[in-house]
Amino acid sequence: MLAKLRLLSAIVLVLTLPLLTDASVVDSDAAQITLPLAKRVNTTGTAKLLESDQARARAFRARAEGKWHHRRPPPVPVNNTAVVYVAPVNIDGQVFDLLVDTGSSNTWVGAGQQYNTTGKTPEDQVAVFYGSGFFFGDEYTATARLGPGLVIKNQSFGDAYFSFGFEGYDGILGIGPTDLTIGTLYTSNASIPTVTDNAYNQGLIRSKKIGISFAPTSNLSDPNGELTFGYVNQDKYTGSVNYVPITSTSPSSSYVGINQTITYGNGHTPILGSKWNSSAGIVDTGTTLVILATDAYEAYVTATGATLDDDTGLLKITQAQYDCLESLHFHIGHATYEFTPNAQIWPRTLNTAIGGVDDAIYLIVGDLGSPSGEGLDFISGFSWLERFYHVYDSDRNRAGFATTCFTHATTN
Ligand SMILES: *[C@@H]1O[C@H](CO)[C@@H](O)[C@H](O)[C@H]1NC(C)=O
Ligand SMILES: *[C@@H]1O[C@H](CO)[C@@H](O)[C@H](O)[C@H]1NC(C)=O
Ligand SMILES: *[C@@H]1O[C@H](CO)[C@@H](O)[C@H](O)[C@H]1NC(C)=O
Ligand SMILES: *[C@@H]1O[C@H](CO)[C@@H](O)[C@H](O)[C@H]1NC(C)=O
Ligand SMILES: *[C@@H]1O[C@H](CO)[C@@H](O)[C@H](O)[C@H]1NC(C)=O
Ligand SMILES: *[C@@H]1O[C@H](CO)[C@@H](O)[C@H](O)[C@H]1NC(C)=O
Ligand SMILES: *[C@@H]1O[C@H](CO)[C@@H](O)[C@H](O)[C@H]1NC(C)=O
Ligand SMILES: *[C@@H]1O[C@H](CO)[C@@H](O)[C@H](O)[C@H]1NC(C)=O
Repeated sequence: MLAKLRLLSAIVLVLTLPLLTDASVVDSDAAQITLPLAKRVNTTGTAKLLESDQARARAFRARAEGKWHHRRPPPVPVNNTAVVYVAPVNIDGQVFDLLVDTGSSNTWVGAGQQYNTTGKTPEDQVAVFYGSGFFFGDEYTATARLGPGLVIKNQSFGDAYFSFGFEGYDGILGIGPTDLTIGTLYTSNASIPTVTDNAYNQGLIRSKKIGISFAPTSNLSDPNGELTFGYVNQDKYTGSVNYVPITSTSPSSSYVGINQTITYGNGHTPILGSKWNSSAGIVDTGTTLVILATDAYEAYVTATGATLDDDTGLLKITQAQYDCLESLHFHIGHATYEFTPNAQIWPRTLNTAIGGVDDAIYLIVGDLGSPSGEGLDFISGFSWLERFYHVYDSDRNRAGFATTCFTHATTN
């Protein structure tokens, strides 16, 4: 049996207009907006953590390959992902709690609260499939507010008249590559500008950078995330942000895709790719775990001695194995990011929330369910992003990473 798990995101709305400047870039006079985020576990429902992430991966592949269109739905979705980060977005005076997603780019509401359409005329109809859910609805334009500082006019968004797989929040704030919106409208092949595009085009921000700061959580009522538009928040990382181009390898190239190789431990046991042959995959705020192509996953299982736990669907190790667990090293561009043993385990205070037992040790690395070499060899979800600052810069088609004060945290 898999996990008894249901997660719910929480929103903490404390919007600020920091006076920070981003010394490493020229756009330091940009208008700035900060959205602190938090997550929370909802244990009253069930979800299949790994299955949900795997379904999302399959959907990424199918979407990029053009295997579906809104008139041809993909295979049956599983329930939504287990933990999500949600941001409050005000549309026409209504505040919606929207999942922050760099793996998709349509913004829509109506999974929970619906848009008040009285006196409004839709521009079009819209449909999006996520693997972990889907929605159909009408597309409207209205003024969207992300905090007091960012008032975006003429933002196009969907209002779902049918949706599946999005319990606990109202819809999605899609901040991935704009081209992912192509084909989601019924009458046109045009792309739909994201909030980032519109804020930029309306002169509200001077850069299309989005700074994403998550942090490991064991206290579920503690705000532990932050999203910034137009700048990176230097208070949230250590050292410097290293940028790499979005990968040219399809299908990862359609997303926030990067090349990387992964090794294990001080002996540099190869897990994924090699120095001369890096591997393409996706960095995604909408995925929970770190999922690896089956051959890489098996190399990790061998390296760690982990066994699959039937109750949670996750890998499990003993205390003795944990004591010997070594770091995973993510080689991205010229930088190496150390993903510590503590980072590789599910927060133990949340074990029972995923159907596990209190004193067990579960790993957050899962099996993608397909072999490497197909252009989508990994998805680094927010379990990874809770240890590193992340920047998506759609303007310059690149992704950035930096260490944080949580990189070596032992809170899990
Ligand atoms: C937890 O999830 C269940 C099932 O999806 C839902 O009915 C319930 O409202 C959620 N709890 C909260 C506090 O949102
Ligand atoms: C998914 O959610 C539906 C409705 O909440 C529920 O009936 C179904 O059992 C769930 N499926 C899984 C695999 O958890
Ligand atoms: C919806 O909008 C209309 C027109 O502005 C307003 O009269 C009505 O009270 C609103 N309904 C709700 C439920 O807010
Ligand atoms: C509003 O946005 C849509 C695309 O979302 C665009 O086609 C339209 O021209 C915009 N209208 C104005 C007045 O800017
Ligand atoms: C959208 O693009 C597809 C393939 O490029 C084409 O077959 C279709 O006619 C286009 N639809 C519209 C509404 O432009
Ligand atoms: C959790 O965080 C909140 C907000 O920072 C704090 O008030 C509370 O005391 C913390 N609880 C625990 C158990 O640490
Ligand atoms: C990524 O890896 C692929 C395959 O090894 C290579 O062709 C490409 O040049 C690399 N770099 C980028 C930015 O895509
Ligand atoms: C390159 O790395 C990928 C991913 O690990 C692997 O599938 C492929 O076989 C490798 N190719 C070569 C020539 O080593």
